[in-house]
Amino acid sequence: MRRPGARRTSLGVRAGRAEPPTGPGARPAAPNPDRGPGAGPTALVVFAGRVTDLRSLAVGDDATIRNWRFVHNLIIPGDPLSLDDVRDRVGRNRMEVAYLGETLVGCTTVRPPTADNGATATVIARVLPEFRRRGLGTRLYERALAQARELGAQTIETVVLASNPDGLRFAERHGFVETDRYLLREGDTAPWIDLRLT
Ligand SMILES: CC(C)(COP(=O)(O)OP(=O)(O)OC[C@H]1O[C@@H](n2cnc3c(N)ncnc32)[C@H](O)[C@@H]1OP(=O)(O)O)[C@@H](O)C(=O)NCCC(=O)NCCS
Repeated sequence: MRRPGARRTSLGVRAGRAEPPTGPGARPAAPNPDRGPGAGPTALVVFAGRVTDLRSLAVGDDATIRNWRFVHNLIIPGDPLSLDDVRDRVGRNRMEVAYLGETLVGCTTVRPPTADNGATATVIARVLPEFRRRGLGTRLYERALAQARELGAQTIETVVLASNPDGLRFAERHGFVETDRYLLREGDTAPWIDLRLT
C-alpha cells in the first residue's frame, strides 16, 4: 500500500516518502523488559535450549523506539530512519518490538486501514537474521494480521524489498501476490514489491 504522499516518477521511482539517512549507525538498545501497555506474551518457544516466551511490546517509549529503529535499519539499510522518523510513524501506525526473553528479535508494523484507501492495512513482520527460520516471523506476522483485522481492514497488503528473497518467499507462502514493483529513489537498485493477501 503506497504511503500517503507517494507518487511514481516516469522512471518508476516512488518519491515523496524518502527520508534522508540519519547520523551514526544504529546500535541495539538494551531490550526493555517492562511490560507496558500493549505488551503481551504471544507464544512459548524453545530458545537456546530453553522454553521462553516470545513477547511483543507496543512502541512508545525511548527504549522501544530505539529497538524498533535498530531492527528496521539493520534489515533495510538503504532506507535508514532517524528516531524522529520512528516517532512520527508511531503516531500513524501500530508498531511493536518483539523479544525472546530479554533478547530483541524483531518488530512489526501495521499501517492501519483508512476510509480513503479501501480499508486496506499494510502488515510487515521483521526478524533479525540470526533468529530466522524458527517460526518467529510467522508468529509476528499472525499477530500483526490480527491487529489489522481488529482495526477493520478488509484488504491486507505487505511490502518487501526485492533484494530480500526470504521476505518475498515468506509473503508468497502466506498467500500474498505481487501487485506493484517500484524504486523509491533515483539510483536505487533494489525495487520494493507491494503484495496483497488473496
Ligand atoms: C520474512 C521474515 C519475517 C521471516 O522470518 P522468519 O522468522 O524466518 O519466518 P519463519 O521462521 O516463520 O518462516 C521462514 C521459513 O522458516 C521455516 N521454519 C519455520 N520454523 C522452522 C523450524 N523450526 N525449523 C526449520 N525451518 C523452520 C518456515 O517453514 C519457512 O520456510 P520457507 O522459507 O521454506 O517458507 C524475515 O525473513 C524478515 O524479517 N525479512 C525481512 C522483512 C520482510 O521482508 N518481511 C516480509 C513482509 S511480511
